[in-house]
Amino acid sequence: MGEAPPSPAGPIDGAEAAALPLPPMIQLPRALQVLRFNQRQIDFVFGGRRRHGEVFRMRGIVPGDPVITSHPDHVQSLFTAKPDQAPSLTGESPLRPIVGPNSVLTAIGPRHMRQRKLLLPPFHGEAIERYEQMISDAAEREIATWPVGEPIALAPRMQAITLDVIMAGIFGIDGELKRGTPEHGLRRAIKGLVQASTWKTAQLAELMNIGREEPVGITKAGLELLDRPTYAVIAARRAAADVEERQDILSLLLRARTEDGEALTDHELRDELLTLVLAGHETTANSLAWTWERLVRTPAAYERLRDAVRGGDAELSATVVEQTITEAMRSRPVIPIIGRRVKVPWRLGEYAVPADTPVTMSILLIHHREDVYPDPFAFRPERWEGHKPGTYTWIPFGGGIRRCLGAALAMAEQRVVLEAMARRLDLAADVPEPERAVHRNVTMIPARGARVVVLSRAA
Ligand code: HEM
Repeated sequence: MGEAPPSPAGPIDGAEAAALPLPPMIQLPRALQVLRFNQRQIDFVFGGRRRHGEVFRMRGIVPGDPVITSHPDHVQSLFTAKPDQAPSLTGESPLRPIVGPNSVLTAIGPRHMRQRKLLLPPFHGEAIERYEQMISDAAEREIATWPVGEPIALAPRMQAITLDVIMAGIFGIDGELKRGTPEHGLRRAIKGLVQASTWKTAQLAELMNIGREEPVGITKAGLELLDRPTYAVIAARRAAADVEERQDILSLLLRARTEDGEALTDHELRDELLTLVLAGHETTANSLAWTWERLVRTPAAYERLRDAVRGGDAELSATVVEQTITEAMRSRPVIPIIGRRVKVPWRLGEYAVPADTPVTMSILLIHHREDVYPDPFAFRPERWEGHKPGTYTWIPFGGGIRRCLGAALAMAEQRVVLEAMARRLDLAADVPEPERAVHRNVTMIPARGARVVVLSRAA
């Protein structure tokens, strides 16, 4: 693993900023840029870097012209900035009208810190260990239903597992849900909403929702369908006799108090629960889908994984599984870009931007820097042999005080599911061509859902 040459970055005063040029601007009409960015982000950002270097600006849909950077030192300056100097851009994301302005994902400043503090304990590494058996059961149940010899799309099947896992973690319900329970209604509504969000109309609706406080159009209609079962689940749990003893996240949140002794309202609970469900299952499912999309097209990596998992050396198996996930998240980051809005002038290498500029970090470009990752387009899990992922060069979960709250859970899910699949199944690509990436909401997913054929089941 290599290193990028240093590039100074961070807050500067107005005079220093005035002495430095703005990053170069992509010269296309705004509407075209927004469209290309949303539909063909890979071509767009790689094209920008080829023409303009590692920092450039675009005309975007959020207020101000966003900068796109791909230098690890710039990333470090943003991840380690004081919260009020570089608040997260998720506060302005299309998810805001869905999960509200006050969830841990969308809030900024003290409100964000309060919510994050409340939510951190149940997502801590040790707390997550409790879920491993449950994840394994969900994976085995799902894998057992897959047909042999015909193409199947993995993404929806991975999603069935990750939705079960997140519902179990949040609501403390495991395995089969009884029809007619509030939790059953909620799972159905979530599945419906996620499916609907693949429609082109839904994507348009999302663009319409950017920058709004309240949802409009189809998003509003979809949310009404989701809110009813969500509030029903909250009411049922508030009334449950064992709420004081339960370890699920909803019960923990019902018992949680802020430093001033305040409890969360139903509305706040609804926002947090929806955030966790929506942020938590599609991302993990698609990350697993990408891992297999790469593995079935990279025989050396697949054989190495299969040999390690089936070889009987638990330590080697765990190492290779971890390296495979790390490499897949490098080469196909499900969230390809994240951002902060700098509140003071900011230096980015040879350039500077004024206060209030949205500065985004292209995870895709950072993960494909030749100086850090030689032969960056090759899928080579063994490149991680003896290397730990760098805090500012491997950032599929973002970083700093906004780092993904569910990272430990997402890693545990990926480890358990990948291991089970490598042990139980022999898979092949349905066609040799790699799957294209399409962009849905803030995620980048395999266009055909990572289609594979199960060749055989191992004994
Ligand atoms: C492979 C799966 C996942 C990926 C790639 C992913 C990625 C990300 C990224 C890139 C961010 C923004 C970080 C930043 O701006 O610095 C984020 C934030 C977040 N993620 Fe995840 N995530 C995954 C799974 C999960 C899961 C399983 C959960 C919860 C159950 C979750 C909950 C959250 C929350 C609540 C935030 C907001 C944190 C904050 O702003 O303080 N994510 N995630």
